[in-house]
Amino acid sequence: MLKEISIINGPNLNLLGKREPDIYGNESMEQYIQRLSQKSFLSKIKLSYAQTNHEGALIDLLHEKSSSVIGIVLNAGAYTHTSLALADAIRSISIPVVEVHLSNIFTREKIRHRSLISAACKGSICGFGMTSYKLAAISLLSQISTLD
Ligand code: DQA
Repeated sequence: MLKEISIINGPNLNLLGKREPDIYGNESMEQYIQRLSQKSFLSKIKLSYAQTNHEGALIDLLHEKSSSVIGIVLNAGAYTHTSLALADAIRSISIPVVEVHLSNIFTREKIRHRSLISAACKGSICGFGMTSYKLAAISLLSQISTLD
């Protein structure tokens, strides 16, 4: 069976491509997933994608996916800055979770500088636009293969 990496997006990220394109770009997540899944380094990996605008549903997704995937790439959107429950959920599962953000949250408003989930994650990648997801997938793969 193919090993799976799950990309999970939180609130408002269903609007990527339309939402504040000066910050988040013009590409929809569906378009990007299509592009990313064609990369040769992912040829032996199943890439799944889920998005929800709801905090509890995000936590449910983490719980559900934790038993079937090798790692999770998580863009928690604004819940990054507010959700202790999400941080607890990440700590509650044993697979690695990589925090990603399209924008560099440290160059933005002060309230975005604080991430409640960073310390619960394996690592964090931000500021590279859609490429943040690719870098996170590479980092997860490097833990199960010689790719590093
Ligand atoms: C974001 C950054 C968050 O501060 C913001 O609330 C988002 C998107 C990013 O990908 O840059 O929704 O996670």
